[in-house]
Amino acid sequence: MAYDLLLRHGMVATPNGIEATDIGVLNGRIVAIGDLGRADAAEVFDAKGLTVLPGVIDTQVHFREPGLEHKEDLKSGTAAAALGGVTAIFEMPNTKPNTATAEALNEKLTRAKGRTYTDHAFFIGATGDNIAALPKLERLPGCSGVKVFMGASTGDLLVQDDATLEKVLRSGNRRVAIHAEDEDRMRARRPIAEAPGATAHAHAEWRDAESARLATERLLRLARRAGRRVHVLHITTGIELPLLAQNRDIATVETTPQHLTLFAPDCYDRLGTLAQMNPPIRSKEHRDALWQAVRDGVIDVIGSDHAPHTLEEKAQPYPASPSGMPGVQTLLPLLLDHMNQGRLTLQRLIDLTSAGPQRIYGIAGKGRIALGYDADFTIVDLKARRVIEKDWLASKCGWSPFEGMQVTGWPMATIVRGHFAMRDGQLGAPIGEPVRFVETFPAQA
Ligand code: DOR
Repeated sequence: MAYDLLLRHGMVATPNGIEATDIGVLNGRIVAIGDLGRADAAEVFDAKGLTVLPGVIDTQVHFREPGLEHKEDLKSGTAAAALGGVTAIFEMPNTKPNTATAEALNEKLTRAKGRTYTDHAFFIGATGDNIAALPKLERLPGCSGVKVFMGASTGDLLVQDDATLEKVLRSGNRRVAIHAEDEDRMRARRPIAEAPGATAHAHAEWRDAESARLATERLLRLARRAGRRVHVLHITTGIELPLLAQNRDIATVETTPQHLTLFAPDCYDRLGTLAQMNPPIRSKEHRDALWQAVRDGVIDVIGSDHAPHTLEEKAQPYPASPSGMPGVQTLLPLLLDHMNQGRLTLQRLIDLTSAGPQRIYGIAGKGRIALGYDADFTIVDLKARRVIEKDWLASKCGWSPFEGMQVTGWPMATIVRGHFAMRDGQLGAPIGEPVRFVETFPAQA
């Protein structure tokens, strides 16, 4: 049999474990796994010494675009993703205008055509005004589901009160992704951020752990009442984890590489407003609790929450400085480094970055290396030592909170449906397509 692409001599992460095997790719799909030494192929990639992982899926990025009010766009954002070993991204709806209508979703899908280096899907933002339309909107091709902001962050998407949130949860069926911070509590505590002389150090005090816990508790109660699955984004506190652990039937859980890596007050001492994000980076105790939750299986997925605010925007004095930091390109290098430091196994890393996203969102044909699945691979050198350098970064914001950090483990190639999106640090062609979902397959004649 002749293949379009043959991956040879790699250590491959299949559902059986890590095995020395070859992979044959035809028409963007995996069509053979085994000893394929004699097969013909248009292209052969020698993966000797490398480990072939299922493609890494980052299910929380902000690349924005619509009014182009930010520098980043779908091209630069997905370039950063591909360079970091990411094969698919889910993009968030807090844009201008918000991605809260079919027209806005279509606008993003149209702009993505021929301009993305990875596969992609877009969230629809819930507002007080589009509740009745959500069941239709969440089923549109290229839509990864509905996203709710319970607390205000960048942009003006907000579902603040229980009654509206319950209506949103009762409208539709797919898993809903939630930013859980309690808006009422944060408004009451806003003077902490506005106190004379307040710096980024005040951020985690203003938007405190209780603001997160309260929102998560309200959410879980309402989700249970509505019988709706939820995905709680960027969990940052140890006090939410027991609640989440008691609700695993309805709730899945995300945390971010930055909440597993940075901690207060050190991050604010070193990085100031660059470390400012929502929900905030918190103390070492919270960070350690998140690692325990990774080990316990309470965390289902790691998303970057890539939010590409520029250095100029970040230079505004706190609290006028915007919240969020870039991260799509550093997600995998950081996790590989944590793996090499013994904080998680390679098996768990794959669970968090490929299998987890597939399970949470019902992604069709991605998330594992198996016959018939999309030929999405993240090929890594587990032992390569590299420094995260500014000139490696493709995000138009041009910085990373992890610049200068030496890591062990590095992406060497990113393959999306059989195409090289990245090889040895060089981008390929922008061949990204919309991700497909098992719950919203269009009927076929
Ligand atoms: O810090 C953040 N920035 N958190 C969010 O939830 C949104 C994000 C952004 O869009 O800038």
